Amino acid sequence: MCGIVGYVGFRSVADILVDGLEQLEYRGYDSAGIAVKCDSDIKIYKSIGKLKNLREELKNHVGEFEKSTTGIGHIRWATHGAPTVINAHPHTCNCGNLVVVHNGIIENYKELKIELEKQGCKFKSQTDTEAVAHLVALKYKQAKNLTEAVRLATKEIQGAYALCVMHNDYKNTVVVTKRNAPLLVGIGEGEFLIASDVPAIIKYTKKAMYLNDNQIATITPNSMKLIDKDGIEQVQKIEVLPWEPVALSKMGYKHFMLKEIHEQPDVVRNNLSGKLHSATEPVVLNEVKLDKETLKKLNRIQIIACGTSLHAAMIGKYLIETFCGIAVDVEASSEYIYRRTVTDENTLVIGVSQSGETADTLTAIKQAKARGSHILIITNRPDSSMAREADSLVPVNAGIEVSVAATKSYIAQLMAFYLLALYMAEVKGSLDNSLVQSVKNELMLLPQKIEQVLANTEDIQKCARKYSGTKDFIYVARGINFPTALEGALKLKEISYINATGYAAGELKHGPIAMLDDTMPVLSILMKGSIYEKLLSNSEEAKARNARMIALTNSTDEKLNDLFETIIRVPDVQEFLSPIIAVIPLQLIAYYIAEFLGKDVDQPRNLAKSVTVE
Ligand code: M6R
Repeated sequence: MCGIVGYVGFRSVADILVDGLEQLEYRGYDSAGIAVKCDSDIKIYKSIGKLKNLREELKNHVGEFEKSTTGIGHIRWATHGAPTVINAHPHTCNCGNLVVVHNGIIENYKELKIELEKQGCKFKSQTDTEAVAHLVALKYKQAKNLTEAVRLATKEIQGAYALCVMHNDYKNTVVVTKRNAPLLVGIGEGEFLIASDVPAIIKYTKKAMYLNDNQIATITPNSMKLIDKDGIEQVQKIEVLPWEPVALSKMGYKHFMLKEIHEQPDVVRNNLSGKLHSATEPVVLNEVKLDKETLKKLNRIQIIACGTSLHAAMIGKYLIETFCGIAVDVEASSEYIYRRTVTDENTLVIGVSQSGETADTLTAIKQAKARGSHILIITNRPDSSMAREADSLVPVNAGIEVSVAATKSYIAQLMAFYLLALYMAEVKGSLDNSLVQSVKNELMLLPQKIEQVLANTEDIQKCARKYSGTKDFIYVARGINFPTALEGALKLKEISYINATGYAAGELKHGPIAMLDDTMPVLSILMKGSIYEKLLSNSEEAKARNARMIALTNSTDEKLNDLFETIIRVPDVQEFLSPIIAVIPLQLIAYYIAEFLGKDVDQPRNLAKSVTVE
């Protein structure tokens, strides 16, 4: 979603800002802009579309800003008002002396706008952010001090925000603040870098300070003063960022998504390392801070997540209920937060999020925490806002995922659930020892099996090409792979814009079967195990309606050749572990269809990597 960068120091600022924005562009955006402090005034440059358009725009004005060393920049993902140059950030007050960039949503902007217009402010854009620019400017007239003006303004703003503000009266100063949106300040020698996420600054420094909600930092090249909402001076911990700048390279792959799919064997290895030593030794999960007695007595778990993370959560439910006999509810965070949920100190609440910043999940976690629940967070970003709320933090170590479509982070989340379910089963003694050992043995074999799938993608590519002309796609599965069907469909929708739906196969005959005819591809995730024969019958039912049947299977059963027009075979795998093997070809089908159709695979339209608005 939107991204912020800022710089105060000695380097020529425009390049730093645009380079920083480029490091955030994987998050998804539709326009961009920067504001730089020049000798006599603040200059603003904006464009719609990709950052290359902003670079082109800047080329026409180089002489104006080349000596400038202070500035702020933004990539916008439209929420209020269309993606136009006028709506792009930075926004200004009427006289243009004060500029603002903003991530998040100002919930009371309509009320603010009415009030500000009464006081003579003229709005140019349709954005919520412009209200902040006018409001801070009015406060500045009273306070005659930029930090104080920001502090006073934030008392009247409701919603989520990370804000960077500059004023023409200040030669080399940026004031920043945040509430329910991430913002960090990188610390260099004689310079500070501000960003909504690490990749924008990691090239310059590994030392950084994460702002807490309602803190306000006033930053100049040689100083940073931090206060809280009451103006009281604060001291904040400086952290060393566990990041390498090379992480954002495609390493020879055409797209980040393909690279990330191919990284999955190593993601599984990383997750097993240090946690699963052998089939006979217990799983080590020091990250779980619930004591063993509490774990043994635990009888209710809630898992909250969105999108792909929600699908991982659904498989987590299956595993925990089967292995541990504990009731698990799974709910989309966006639903969880708007009803009266029954949660208390006896409930373990698990939040799952690749980014650790998804606004709905973060709010849900905060609600559950306020009711006394132990919060366990499964995330790929141990430095995220959600991680900071965790009582138990289980990082999934997938490495940065650039492609908007989640792939390796999903596999990593699944690994976290396998280890967590086994760990809890061992603490509770709820699972037969031989089953525990066989699951562990299978887990250790997974990386080679994924490598086998990735080494033989010809059939998958042929399948993608064959069905790339379709308008609709149905995925069916049962049991532990029902969420795999949902995930396969989500991947296809996201990057190819084909209308794809996942169904529990037993539900087909309760409605969706009406859609089947000889134009409709139906992909059955037919993995051997307890539900195999049932799914085969459901596939027969679809075939009888002339659907174009595709099997994704680890079975060598000859009779499948009559039933399915296309068969994709994967290595044999135990049913419990089959979601990991089954999802890889589905990721690849989505990838190759989108690539074949010439779509923007890594940055699909309308989507953002980190959804920081509710
Ligand atoms: O960062 P999160 O895992 O919390 O994000 C949740 C969803 O927005 C995310 O999974 C989204 O559905 C992805 N684009 C899926 O590929």
